Amino acid sequence: MPLTRRAAIERFTLFLAGSPLLRGQYMSRADHERIPSLDEIASVLEFEPVARAKITQTSYDYVTGGVESEFSLRRNREAFDWATLIPRAVGDVAKIDSSLELFGTRLDFPIFVAPTAGHAQLHNDGEQETYRGASAAGALMAVSHNSSFPLDTIAKAADGPQWAQLYVRRNPDTARSRVDMAVDNGYLAICLTVDTQWNSARDRLTHDANLSATAAGPRRERQARRPRRSRGVQEKTYPYGLVPQDPDLDWSIIAKIRTWTDLPLLLKGILTAEDARLAVQHDVDGIIVSNHGARYLASAPATFEVLEEVVEAVGGKLPVLLDGGVRRGTDVLKALALGAKAVAVGRPPLWGLGAYGAAGTQRVIEILRAELVLAMAHTGCASLAAINRGLVRTDFP
Ligand SMILES: Cc1cc2nc3c(=O)[nH]c(=O)nc-3n(C[C@H](O)[C@H](O)[C@H](O)COP(=O)(O)O)c2cc1C
Repeated sequence: MPLTRRAAIERFTLFLAGSPLLRGQYMSRADHERIPSLDEIASVLEFEPVARAKITQTSYDYVTGGVESEFSLRRNREAFDWATLIPRAVGDVAKIDSSLELFGTRLDFPIFVAPTAGHAQLHNDGEQETYRGASAAGALMAVSHNSSFPLDTIAKAADGPQWAQLYVRRNPDTARSRVDMAVDNGYLAICLTVDTQWNSARDRLTHDANLSATAAGPRRERQARRPRRSRGVQEKTYPYGLVPQDPDLDWSIIAKIRTWTDLPLLLKGILTAEDARLAVQHDVDGIIVSNHGARYLASAPATFEVLEEVVEAVGGKLPVLLDGGVRRGTDVLKALALGAKAVAVGRPPLWGLGAYGAAGTQRVIEILRAELVLAMAHTGCASLAAINRGLVRTDFP
């Protein structure tokens, strides 16, 4: 590929920035002058620039960005990079079986679509299209509480397994009606997210808002720079756009949700042994180790770094799942080796959706699945049961 002026500037900028995230996501062979066809895409990371070219800057930043200056976002990725896999020279890996059972559902592989909000900003059919892609790939999809379409509409778009993610947001009645709708429409589990007590400040989105205000003229610009009023809590407002969202959520919510449904109940957003033990005591059915894709607590640990601590605290009493930074089949294998039963991906299916619709989401999952099979083969694991702690050496700095 000839070195164009644009490519030269891009490379020089990356060199100056010296950011591991930019370096990690930089693809030497990608030609950004041209949108590649789906069949040309080699890895999950390559969907990101295609999606970027097709959606608005604000949507791209909303999907891709993290809290503040994105330290934890980088760290979610880097934690996987700091772990090496130990190969096996000889082994019977003529057939690789990556199937498992999760809460009574048989799945062909341990990778599912994490709940993410607002898919309509990436595709007119929103979550319906994502669900078509996930189902075509054979993946389970968790649908966000803040989906662009209602749970019943999404459920009709395809036929794969689905979970419903829940927020309480000081409104148990709304939460309950969402659970009822999930039950009525065949969703197989409820996944309560517990890491968004207040909103979060995402520098990228602040800059996007400032830029669009500047473009709209001086009056709008002055408005945008004024401290914003809270929409979350009526009795009190806070400056600088701070919004309490689930500020008084407590452990009693689990017993309450149990009175609404018998579906398996998972807690999403656990990052410590202490919280994992409390989750076990309060009788949840599963835990998702997650820092919300590094979108809430700035400087949160990488999920892969704390996985083992959580797995040990749970002591095999319930399945531990993980999300955050999974971009390669080797990442999936590393997480399973440290004790995760399955992993979820948030941004990649969205990049696939924005780039190529359902076919893109489908391919994202298919690539991850294929990479996992290869990683299992080269580490001598013919089934998920063969994956063990000895496969991974972690050298976190
Ligand atoms: C655009 C976007 C929207 C999200 N919306 C939600 C949500 O509504 N509910 C939720 O529990 N998690 C939400 N998450 C977090 C994901 O479920 C998941 O934890 C995270 O994306 C995993 O990290 P990854 O994107 O690096 O794979 C969102 C993440 C993204 C990127």
